[in-house]
Amino acid sequence: MSKIALITGANKGIGFETARQLAKSGGVHVLLAARDRGKGVDAALKLQGEGLDVEALTLDVTDADSIAGAAKDIGKKFGRLDILINNAGIGVDDPAKKVAEQTLATWRKTFDTNVFGLIAVTQEFLPLLEKSDAGRIVNLSSILASLTLHIDPKSPIYDFKVPAYNVSKTAVNAWTVQLAYQLRDTKIKVNAAHPGHVKTELGGAAAPMEIVDGAKTSVALALIGANGPNGAYVHMGEPLPW
Ligand SMILES: NC(=O)c1ccc[n+]([C@@H]2O[C@H](COP(=O)([O-])OP(=O)(O)OC[C@H]3O[C@@H](n4cnc5c(N)ncnc54)[C@H](OP(=O)(O)O)[C@@H]3O)[C@@H](O)[C@H]2O)c1
Repeated sequence: MSKIALITGANKGIGFETARQLAKSGGVHVLLAARDRGKGVDAALKLQGEGLDVEALTLDVTDADSIAGAAKDIGKKFGRLDILINNAGIGVDDPAKKVAEQTLATWRKTFDTNVFGLIAVTQEFLPLLEKSDAGRIVNLSSILASLTLHIDPKSPIYDFKVPAYNVSKTAVNAWTVQLAYQLRDTKIKVNAAHPGHVKTELGGAAAPMEIVDGAKTSVALALIGANGPNGAYVHMGEPLPW
């Protein structure tokens, strides 16, 4: 029986490549979620054209009705969810503004998607993950979430102060730790992934990592076994400092 995996924001970028690699790993039926139905269908058709076991699903992580509708459909069709990859994310800080100048609208928009959207999706799908033999949740964080690295003038991210984005990902890490505590004696594991600095619309064309490598941390955490970590913050199998 195939595992059922749901990936949010999977119509492009790291999410799309994660869908491809998870489906290619064999034995995983991938629900490729996109907020725009047309973009999701096009992306799913592309992977189906590669012979992969993928279907499109419409899900906007900032829309409670959309999340509830998706969970209801998956519950009816599969009765469970084995893998949830909270991949959808945005970065809308204004690069021309200093840390203290980013508007509250920017902070709210960022948190609505990256934090509250991620939590809302997780809350809605947790009952279906509890029906899995080995539920896995992967939260897309970033190295820019790391407070330890942000206070170290010698760290490579010291000068990357895009505050709304960075703090939203720090909140994702904190949420991951809180949820891992709740799940510690269950069959579900939740971890935070730093994909790398990846060439996507969000990461920019000058990013050093190719998308094919940027999906690897999410895929690995989605497929960890019973002895794998719970509540970890990881890049390519290595822990990052919180
Ligand atoms: N690229 C990097 O260097 C990097 C580094 C660290 C962490 N990350 C994280 O990795 C994840 C994927 O990033 P990426 O680089 O692949 O970005 P991307 O190419 O910009 O893709 C982002 C995806 O999220 C979707 N999305 C945005 N808002 C959404 C919403 N409200 N509901 C559902 N989907 C929504 C987008 O949909 P639309 O196409 O409709 O906009 C798109 O599919 C993000 O969480 C990001 O923060 C990326």
